Parts: sequence; structure tokens; C-alpha cells
Amino acid sequence: MAAEAGDKAFYVTTPIYYVNDAPHLGHAYTTVAADMIARWHRQRGERVWFLTGTDEHGQKVMRSAEAAGVEPSEWSDRLVETEWKPVLEVVDASNDDFIRTTEQRHVERVQRFWQALYDAGHVYEGRYEGPYCVSCEEFKIESELEDGQDGEKLCPIHGRPVEILSETNYFFRMSAFADRLLALYEEHPEFVQPESMRNELISFVRQGLQDLSITRSTFDWGIPVPWDPDHVLYVWIDALLNYVTAAGYSTNPEAFAQIWPADLHLVGKDIARFHAVIWPAMLMAAGIDVPRTVFAHGWLLVGGQKMSKTKLTGIHPRDIVDHFGSDAFRYYFLRAIQFGSDGSFSWEHMTAVYTSELANGLGNLASRVAAMVGRYFDGTLPKPTDHGPAEDVIAEKLADAARRADAAIDRFALHEALAATNELVGAVNVYVTEQEPWKVAKSDADSDRARLATILYTAAEALRAIAVLHNAVMPKASGALWESLGAAEQLGALAEQRVQDAGTWGQLPPGATVTKTAALFPRLPEEPAGS
Ligand code: MSP
Repeated sequence: MAAEAGDKAFYVTTPIYYVNDAPHLGHAYTTVAADMIARWHRQRGERVWFLTGTDEHGQKVMRSAEAAGVEPSEWSDRLVETEWKPVLEVVDASNDDFIRTTEQRHVERVQRFWQALYDAGHVYEGRYEGPYCVSCEEFKIESELEDGQDGEKLCPIHGRPVEILSETNYFFRMSAFADRLLALYEEHPEFVQPESMRNELISFVRQGLQDLSITRSTFDWGIPVPWDPDHVLYVWIDALLNYVTAAGYSTNPEAFAQIWPADLHLVGKDIARFHAVIWPAMLMAAGIDVPRTVFAHGWLLVGGQKMSKTKLTGIHPRDIVDHFGSDAFRYYFLRAIQFGSDGSFSWEHMTAVYTSELANGLGNLASRVAAMVGRYFDGTLPKPTDHGPAEDVIAEKLADAARRADAAIDRFALHEALAATNELVGAVNVYVTEQEPWKVAKSDADSDRARLATILYTAAEALRAIAVLHNAVMPKASGALWESLGAAEQLGALAEQRVQDAGTWGQLPPGATVTKTAALFPRLPEEPAGS
């Protein structure tokens, strides 16, 4: 959609992913959630800007490259091209841009940002002595560490020993921003969500903030500090800036004004503190607006612990998508886990959900309805003539589902949006079972023909709304359903259907050509792919 002056886009981001290794389900989970939100907003008719990308500097990536015997730049190029860009296609992500922190546009703008803060007196030289977790790329607080064997101190997230740093570094005067951050959390409760995370961060900041070490001087895989080339910028304060560098910060003020501030940074709960404490403090120092919302979702767990490559529990998204398809992948993770809470994945549970909700639920409903319109009305959607109480129930459920789903998206309750549409699918399935159109079809009496027409119209019209409401999460199946209903010809492209109008009854015109297409959710292969 063309941008108009003053027409700010809805700007949603994922974290940028470390290229130390290949993606696993946890990364794809964030991307898919952000993608659903982006697609939903597009379908409201809003202009949307959806950004994702890769975080390539720092020790974590440098050590992976060293272990593979290649330069970090070569390693990053390889991982981005063979893994991180392809996985976006695997999960059907509709991002508008992809930023790499090694790109010139990023490097230049990051240097400009920090030079400006340095010139304004927000940065000073000091000494950092303390624990650091390379897997988190984080300076750790002693009291948060866990005890390992032989007095070792472990990172509570990765369970790995922290390293003790002793470096002369530059520091950002972050402590000066504690009061302004607390005021931000107070005045804008929507700034950090869910509520539990907001409370956690408020108590963290209330304890007082330390200044932040923002440079490293013991290795060189990073953006050179513009005022002191013996240092590179600390990877996090380079990476966080991707959200503004990709939006045109400092070089393209008009474009920047149409995108920034971000409406939503979607992050895992492990990195909420970087996004809701350090990041707004950096922006305040620079005089740039802070993002509107940082939403922290939960973790995908394996054996009760965060799925991670470090712990060798990562499953590649392709392994799941090859077996279940990308729509089912997207649907399952967003539907089965309450968004904001942790959740577990199991092959068995996913198979059960696929079979009951997708294949036997929506898929079966769509194919039964199309088959009956084909058999009894030669594939032409009939006109409903005796809309009665049973049809009223469906029309009301449809309006209710559309309203609830739309409202749930604004609360980031993605699972509730899906549940609302699922309830509609369930209600239509019950309706068809109760109305028994195959029995009504046995009679040629005018009244029975009229009844049959009404039943099939009602089911098809409900499927029209289901295609619109599920399009953000299952674009392929929804597109196929839209085609099967003959809706594209009558109502235009699915992407052009507004979610806020989806609940209005009677949009699919009688006369539409309904065709039975391939199963939306085919029977699963016997064995998991690759086993
Ligand atoms: N590079 C940083 C982010 C910088 S953003 C300015 C980083 N990268 S990461 O690759 O380690 O993780 C990025 C995100 O992947 C996490 O915040 C989270 O959104 C997602 N996940 C990684 N593992 C996950 C799970 N096991 N479960 C759910 N999400 C997880 O942190």
C-alpha cells in the first residue's frame, strides 16, 4: 500500500537472531507470532512494516566461526544465506525488510548514534570487572547466578559457567535514567507487557540502575567505536539499534517519521530487560521516542527447560514443517500455548491437534460443504430462502468470533483470537451435523430444496468469514478455502477483506462457483520426515 504523508505504519519487529548456529523452534515461534500480528494489521487495511534480521557481532558468533575455522564474516554470510533467510520462507513469514548488523547502513548509523551520545556527555571511560555470559552476551549480576560444581558460577538461563571480565571499557550513564524509566512504566502501562513482566522490571529498576559497559576491547568482531578504534561496541547496544537503523534513522528523516516509534517489539522473556530498560534509556539519551510496546512471550520448553542449541535441545523448524506443513506449524504454536506463558512441544500433541482441529475440524467441514454444493447444486452456491433460528445462531456466533478475535489481537492474546475462530468452526460443524443436509437432499419437495439451499449457504458463508479470520495464521489454507468458495471472483482477493468487516453476515453472494479442491489439511505421512 502506498504511504501517505503523516500515515505512520504499524511497525512490528522480531529480535534479530544470533547467527552462531541454525534456527530452532524457539526462534521460529517469535517470527511466526510477529508475522500473525503483521498480517492481521495489514488485513485491517493498515500500512504495516514488519522487520526481522540477524545479530552477527560479538563473542558468541565469533567463537562459532573460530570453531568452524572460518572468519566471522564468512561464517555469518553462510549462516544467513543457508539458514536464517530460508527459514523465513519455511514458516511463511511476510517481513518487509531483513537487517543484518554487518550491513553498511547499520554500521554507519550505529556509529553516528553513539558518537552523538558520547559528544553529549552520556559516555565515560571506566573499568569493568565482573561476570559475563557469552551465550547471553550479558554482563551478569552476581546475585542472579547459580552455583555450579567447585564453586563455579553458572548463568541461570544457559546453565553454563560465566566468564570473569576485567577490561577498560566505555560506560553509558544509564543510572541517570532510572526515574524516567519508572515514570514511563507508570504513565504507559502498555509499554511493557505482560503485566507480570512489567512488575518484574519495575522492581528491578527500583533497586537502582548501574551504568552499562558499552564497549569491549579484548576482541575485534564488532562495530569500531568511532572515537576510540581500539574498542568495538558491545554487541547488545549495536543490535538494539537495528530497530531504528533499518527504519532510516539519521539518514532518511521522512521515512523514519513514517515508521518510528515501533508499535511492537516482540521478544522472548529472556531479553525483555534489554528491550524495556537499556533500549528506552538509550533512546531517551538520544532524544528519540521510545517504542510503544515491548511484549515478552514465554519459552518453548524441552524437559522443562528453555529449548536451546547451547543445550542441544533445538529442533529445526523445517523438520516440523516438512511433516505438518507451514500453516499447521504456525497454527499449532500460536494456538496451543497461551501467548506470554511457557509451553512444551511434543510430536504427539501436535499430531493430535492437527488431526482433531485442522484435518477433522476445519478441513473436513470445508470439503463436506464444497462436495454437497457440487452434488446438490452443480457447484453453484444456492440462495438461502428460509433463514431461521438455527441460522441466526450461526450468524451471531460469526459476528461474535470476529469481534473477539479482533479485540484479542490488540491484547496480544493470539491464542484467544484463534480460539474464537475455532469456536465458530465447531459451531458450524455442529450445525451441519444437526441439520443433516444429506437427508434433506433425499426429497425434491420445494420446501426441502429451500431448506437444503439455506443450510449449505449458511455453512459456506460461515466458511467465508473463517477464511478471513484465519488468513493471518494460515495463509495457504485460507487462500485455498477462499478459492474453493469462489469468493475471489465475487469479493476480490482474500488479502483485501477487512477483518473488522468479517463478522457482517451475508457477504458471499449466491451464484458463486464452489469447487471441491485438494484437502486443506491432508492426512499426515506415516513417519515423521527424516526419521
Ligand atoms: N540477538 C539477540 C536479540 C537481539 S534483539 C536486538 C538474541 N538472539 S537469539 O537468537 O538468542 O534469540 C532471539 C529470540 O529467539 C529470543 O528472544 C526469543 O524471542 C526466541 N527464542 C530463542 N529460544 C527460545 C525458546 N526456547 N522459546 C521461545 N523463544 C525463544 O537474543
